[in-house]
Amino acid sequence: MYFNWLRRDPESVADPTDGRLQSPVHCTRIGRIDHVNSDRASAMYASLSDVSRRVAAGDGDSPFSLANDDAYAAWRARKLELRRSLEATRALDLGADGKLAAADLAAAARQVDAFGFVLFEGDGRLDKAAFLALNRQLGLERLDANPGADTDRVTSLTRVDDEDPRAQYVPYTNRALNWHTDGYYNDSARAIRAFALYCVQPAARGGGNFLFDHEYLYLQIRDRAPDLLRALMRPDLMRVPANVQNGRVVRAEETGPVFAIDGDGGGLQMRYTSRPRNIVWKRDRQSTLALGLVRELLMAGDGLVELRLRRGQGLVCSNLLHGREAYADDPAQPPRLVFRARYLDPVRPGVEPPAERD
Ligand SMILES: [Fe+2]
Repeated sequence: MYFNWLRRDPESVADPTDGRLQSPVHCTRIGRIDHVNSDRASAMYASLSDVSRRVAAGDGDSPFSLANDDAYAAWRARKLELRRSLEATRALDLGADGKLAAADLAAAARQVDAFGFVLFEGDGRLDKAAFLALNRQLGLERLDANPGADTDRVTSLTRVDDEDPRAQYVPYTNRALNWHTDGYYNDSARAIRAFALYCVQPAARGGGNFLFDHEYLYLQIRDRAPDLLRALMRPDLMRVPANVQNGRVVRAEETGPVFAIDGDGGGLQMRYTSRPRNIVWKRDRQSTLALGLVRELLMAGDGLVELRLRRGQGLVCSNLLHGREAYADDPAQPPRLVFRARYLDPVRPGVEPPAERD
């Protein structure tokens, strides 16, 4: 399936969640996802689950370790087969209670394994409690708190008034957000492993999301230049200076890699932002080449998925790379409103979430 060219308004300002307004960026990309017409997914899923279970056991056999060529080759083959067998934009139906049927949890797991996210939709409108209950079905319990969140730790993403302190952060405006992963400025103990979105009210125009499975990006880099993955996994690659406002440290400086193997389960984590300001990249030749390849692959768009959530649709994802188009509300209609919840837990459909630890 080929997607239309994504054209973002050059006057729009792109900046990740933590960021303040910055200079304009022009982005034009094309994306392709492998189309579906096979029912081999079930068999392949069993194999991929075997790998996932080994990774979850933390036995040091992560396919994302550069030392594990055999495990990587097996994971890669199964990942690609799943991607060929499934459709990224398949939306799973929610029941009248706003939840997924138990029988659909395996399908949700397959979607996440293949594409890094699963889409869902229902006829009714979920309130925030129902949204959180749905996410718990997918193994998500431990919510991250961010300053703009509501008291229940769900963030209501909508355009706020200029007087609102959140107006300095792009997610609370109608402007575009360029490629990033959520919480890239968090320390590893507070790594965002998943987030969920739910569309209460779409914008009159624009507001679509673009997604790129970071596991698939890793795969493309490992195929082309495994040495550059070493550079992307160095712990001093990316430095995010402290966020200081009015002499107060809102967030401490943080340094880390782009790709990391999760010490709690062996999955792949990614931290990234395409913002040019308030970020300091290591500047040696390998780092520069590696970051250039990341940008090149994002521009090439093989694996990019474009979505425009309709009212009653949402997604749960493994904190993959994502962004948002600029949007415009209709003054005669309610403004765009999307619920967002960020989690310290990984997506594990059907797995009982761990008890709250913080
Ligand atoms: Fe985000």
